[in-house]
Amino acid sequence: MAQAKRIGILTSGGDCPGLNAAIRGVGKTAIRTFGMEAIGFINGFQGLVSGEHVELSEESLSGILTMGGTILGTSREKPFKAEPGDVGRKQEQILATIERLRLDCVVCIGGNGTMKTAHKLSKTGANVVGIPKTIDNDVWGTDLSFGYDSALNVATEAIDRLHTTANSHRRIMVVEVMGHGAGWLALSSGLASGGDVVLIPEIAWDEALVARFLKDRAVRGKSYSIVVVAEGIALPAEATAQGMSAGRWVAKRISELTGLETRETILGYTQRGGSPTPMDRILATRLGTAAAGLIAAGDYGKMVALQGTEITSIPLKDTAGRVKTVPPDHALVRGSRLLGTCFGDA
Ligand code: F6P
Repeated sequence: MAQAKRIGILTSGGDCPGLNAAIRGVGKTAIRTFGMEAIGFINGFQGLVSGEHVELSEESLSGILTMGGTILGTSREKPFKAEPGDVGRKQEQILATIERLRLDCVVCIGGNGTMKTAHKLSKTGANVVGIPKTIDNDVWGTDLSFGYDSALNVATEAIDRLHTTANSHRRIMVVEVMGHGAGWLALSSGLASGGDVVLIPEIAWDEALVARFLKDRAVRGKSYSIVVVAEGIALPAEATAQGMSAGRWVAKRISELTGLETRETILGYTQRGGSPTPMDRILATRLGTAAAGLIAAGDYGKMVALQGTEITSIPLKDTAGRVKTVPPDHALVRGSRLLGTCFGDA
């Protein structure tokens, strides 16, 4: 009888809601449906390098569907990005881990950086399957990444709450949401919560235009305004030199240019914490089960992806090193503009 396949699962990069649902999806399907054995590496690629792992079973994967974070821990370890000599050493350690633990495949659950590392790992000859996650929704090749819907819910609820306090005090409220290179979260939460100004990294913004827009609103009798800012918007050198976040800087400049009372709120890590939404549980589970299917078929070097309503897969080399940013003429941008949202460019 052929030996059961053995897989190693890791979660890497910033955490997000839905990671446990994905671990459960791939792990349970591998064990139950395909008769495989599964282990989980501790703290992302650190565990793959050191070999630190836990055995996974149907029992240990039970009860984690709704849990935030990751039962395996995560890190931003990039074993192929270290100093030249170090890279060689870590690569040897990884390949030794894979051999020692008799792994047929490593499942890498993560965002852009993780898919890049996963691709590099597959180029060493290892069998790898990737599963995309991120609250930023910026993994290239998948329409959605799990974690995004949960973060969107947190950001939208927070901005909804800021409306009432902004109104009470007749203030401008600036809210900074996550999104370093891509503005999906700011754009969507801004749209969902009726933000008046939305600033995203993909659209160059002009502070004078933003100030004029906000002053006009005040003159027209609007008692308050909501400004949604992605953390990764371009900032002047002065802001960076003062170590100011995007939200802090935008609030300061709006206050100085308009004379209107302005406050800022930085949502930060609240956006990544807590239980995944039902949509994220479903997406993470679908992607996880599809990853197990790829492994069963021996179809390696791929990332599972959502395209339209279907789960499919794409070569890791196609997504590695790419970022799915917001096209400045995206339907959500055009729709927001029709409603009068200011993107700081017109
Ligand atoms: O990639 C997800 C993300 O939450 C980004 O939105 C944010 O810029 C970054 O991670 C924060 O990273 P860290 O957890 O390393 O502070």
